[in-house]
Amino acid sequence: MKRRSVLCSGASLIAAGATILNSLPSIAATLSDKSVRFMRAYEVGELGRKNYGLRIVRRPVPDVAAGQVLLRVHATGLNARDLALLRGLRIYGGVHDPTRIPLDDNACEVLALGAGVTDFKIGDRVLCTHFPLWLDGPWDDVTMSGVDFGVNTNGFLAEQVAVPAQGLVRIPREISYQAAATFPNAGLTAWHAVMVAANLQAGETMVTLGTGGVSVFGMQWAKLRGAKVAITSSQDTKLVRMRELGAEITINYRNNPDWHHELLELTQGRGADVVLNTVGIAELERCLLACNSNGRVMVIGANSVTRGKGTATTAEFTGLKVFPRAMIMRGLTIRGIIVGSRQMLADALQAAASAGLLPVIDRVFSFENAREAITYMESGEKIGKIVISI
Ligand SMILES: NC(=O)c1ccc[n+]([C@@H]2O[C@H](COP(=O)([O-])OP(=O)(O)OC[C@H]3O[C@@H](n4cnc5c(N)ncnc54)[C@H](OP(=O)(O)O)[C@@H]3O)[C@@H](O)[C@H]2O)c1
Repeated sequence: MKRRSVLCSGASLIAAGATILNSLPSIAATLSDKSVRFMRAYEVGELGRKNYGLRIVRRPVPDVAAGQVLLRVHATGLNARDLALLRGLRIYGGVHDPTRIPLDDNACEVLALGAGVTDFKIGDRVLCTHFPLWLDGPWDDVTMSGVDFGVNTNGFLAEQVAVPAQGLVRIPREISYQAAATFPNAGLTAWHAVMVAANLQAGETMVTLGTGGVSVFGMQWAKLRGAKVAITSSQDTKLVRMRELGAEITINYRNNPDWHHELLELTQGRGADVVLNTVGIAELERCLLACNSNGRVMVIGANSVTRGKGTATTAEFTGLKVFPRAMIMRGLTIRGIIVGSRQMLADALQAAASAGLLPVIDRVFSFENAREAITYMESGEKIGKIVISI
């Protein structure tokens, strides 16, 4: 009788969708229905809590629908947008869902195939692209933003995830799970900006802002193209590391907020052919002033906070003094970049495998220490990427 009552309460909780581990630690052991399997995952939780509301839960392994695959997640990683999402910033619109599983970076192994999936087999090493509805060709916001992992669809801070098979790319054997997990967001965005949209050429000069995930990947892709790289940072120790990785010009933007003056001086007045603006509107004017004739400014960062001035408004943007003059007289291009297509991701992985390019991973945290990974990300001490091994 006693066992039966436990079963009933367990079944109703399964129907509710999720069980908080701390409150019901042994539910999986007490269930006798072997057809229901469980996994651990993190949910974003309620807003405004210490360490955010992030909580570890036990949830049923997701069902695998036709056209989907079930993946065992080996690694995921943190990106700037994840902190914004956990803070509940409404940059993505919609309503905060405390049960959402966060994070879009991933490197996985195929565990099961849904009906109709023939391109993959169990055991394949794969990763899922950021927007699985964007396979190739130009971006279309209306038709391709419907699946955005960690935002409107559950992400990869979980042991198992079911995703559309069409979003998968095979991981080349030269690339480890931890390295591969840095590609779906930062690696792909930087590839799109440097190799596709800006089409950086050998011998050109590129400047990239800060030593975060996108910027450092951007530097690595630029070196692969045979370009000269300038990079900025708030810390000299990080700039030393960037020189070791191949940057020819390094500028401390904290000591030298108008970093474009130094860039122009160090490039004999020519400036950069390509600028990766990984910050946002606060740096746009400096990015324009840093450009050579026919310069291409890739706008990647969406931060709207200006140094010491609060939040930049549209009026502030249209008030940019150099905007029309620089655009016209020097023939500049400003291009917004949104992550990238599945084809770009496949190209980026193949290029990295062929060149032996290793992503810059600052630190790897365990699944159990995901909160510590977030605290470290917030400290601003990292270079490149933070990975979570699962
Ligand atoms: N458009 C897209 O599809 C897309 C995709 C990915 C990311 N993003 C956006 O791109 C930005 C960077 O992402 P991420 O993942 O690379 O971030 P991240 O790894 O957190 O790196 C952030 C870095 O930016 C640098 N930084 C901050 N303020 C700066 C300033 N005023 N000037 C120069 N550098 C500054 C800092 O470098 P130092 O520590 O060296 O000072 C910091 O470490 C974020 O806004 C993110 O949301 C957009």
